[in-house]
Amino acid sequence: MDLSIHQPVIARIQQFEGKQITLNGWVYHTRDLRKLVFIQLRDGTGTIQCIFNKEEVSEEIFAAAQSAGQESSVSITGKVVADPRSPLGFELQASNIEVHQAVSDYPIGPKEHGTGFLMEHRHLWLRSKRQHAIARIRNELIKAIRDYFEWQAFTLVDAPILTGVACEGTTTLFELDYHGEPAFLTQSGQLYMEAAAKAFGRAYCFGPTFRAEKSKTRRHLHEFWMVEPEVSYLDLAGDMELTEDFVSYLIGRVCGERTEELAILERDVGRLKAAARTPYPRLSYDEAVEILKKEHNIDHEWGKDFGAEEETLLASRHDQPTFIHRFPAACKAFYMKRDPDNDKLSLSMDLLAPEGYGEIVGGAQREDDYETLVGRMREEGIPEQPLSWYLDLRKYGSVPHAGFGLGIERTLAWICGIKHVRETIAFPRMLEKIWP
Ligand code: 4AD
Ligand code: MG
Repeated sequence: MDLSIHQPVIARIQQFEGKQITLNGWVYHTRDLRKLVFIQLRDGTGTIQCIFNKEEVSEEIFAAAQSAGQESSVSITGKVVADPRSPLGFELQASNIEVHQAVSDYPIGPKEHGTGFLMEHRHLWLRSKRQHAIARIRNELIKAIRDYFEWQAFTLVDAPILTGVACEGTTTLFELDYHGEPAFLTQSGQLYMEAAAKAFGRAYCFGPTFRAEKSKTRRHLHEFWMVEPEVSYLDLAGDMELTEDFVSYLIGRVCGERTEELAILERDVGRLKAAARTPYPRLSYDEAVEILKKEHNIDHEWGKDFGAEEETLLASRHDQPTFIHRFPAACKAFYMKRDPDNDKLSLSMDLLAPEGYGEIVGGAQREDDYETLVGRMREEGIPEQPLSWYLDLRKYGSVPHAGFGLGIERTLAWICGIKHVRETIAFPRMLEKIWP
């Protein structure tokens, strides 16, 4: 067995056409035609068909190929030949197989399994084709996010995970003991990015964030990844322009680079591609309330945030994502600036994905005036001492600034066209779910 990092991998197979190589991996599927055995070998970078011909290999080797069950770990040696019929374009004419561990009772077979069973076996389920497709799209999305901010001259500033402040309200905090003092797992890096935006002009963080959501829905995780840009000298209108430019870029990039994976997931790419076009439609909160009344006969109580069903209705009028802006201040966070034209409104926005995927982005222009911000905090009973550093940002070179947070798993669920966010992250953390 070759244990060097230079060993051939299936993703780079075209470099080895006509050559004899050894591939290390796992048996994905075996088809035994008595005189021929076909093993689909996967090594994590791809899958290749390996053909064992009874007339060309020893009896012992042929028997080993016949009996290697699904997920047996094996090294297969053979010649790489072009095969235009296979999706990969190549197959391996096998001359040897070394079985490292023979498996005959792999729990996940080709038959249909329930999601509960698969979630319990998540550590094994990750080996399946569909999970590979999702993981590769996630990988592409994250690369695209980093490229975008690099091109737009943002500086990456990693926000802390252990924090003493509640950014998004106190009801969803995971509390822990920090040398005898209470501390929390971060809900958002935003407040730190506001400091970073004063230092670097344009900054972003990208990391795991935590919310002890009490509700069991298909959109909520306890641990999710969020990318949060923050920009000095930007207002709400500019924030929405940044959001649509960013999201449309991400969609175009994934549709262009991950066609194979999107096809595996049977995603309607034509529909998804609409989101690569800008501008996105914009509705004020007041307009949204009116639409719910007029078109759907829903009496939405003014001042309340929209629920999942209302978001779905509001976002289903277009194939592009829809902005809702200027929410009532009462249902949004303390740090949001009020609308100078109406003190009851905040300079906030949500971006709702079409096809029922709901809010993927939440953002706002921030309150940049010291006195006003202190006043808001007092009204809401938010202690000033733990946020004194945050208030400092309004004392030393305060400027209008804005930013947003995009949730990776919800965005990915929409891109992949999968109903539940649990499949978009390798090991999801949800209500009553910390294993595996
Ligand atoms: O709207 P949220 O709560 O906004 C913030 O945290 C701001 N501080 C961000 C900022 O302005 N820098 O969360 C932003 C996004 C949501 O739109 C959603 O995509 C995702 O984070 N999100 C969740 N995703 C999965 N599970 C949860 N429990 C989520 N809560 C929020
Ligand atoms: Mg939100």
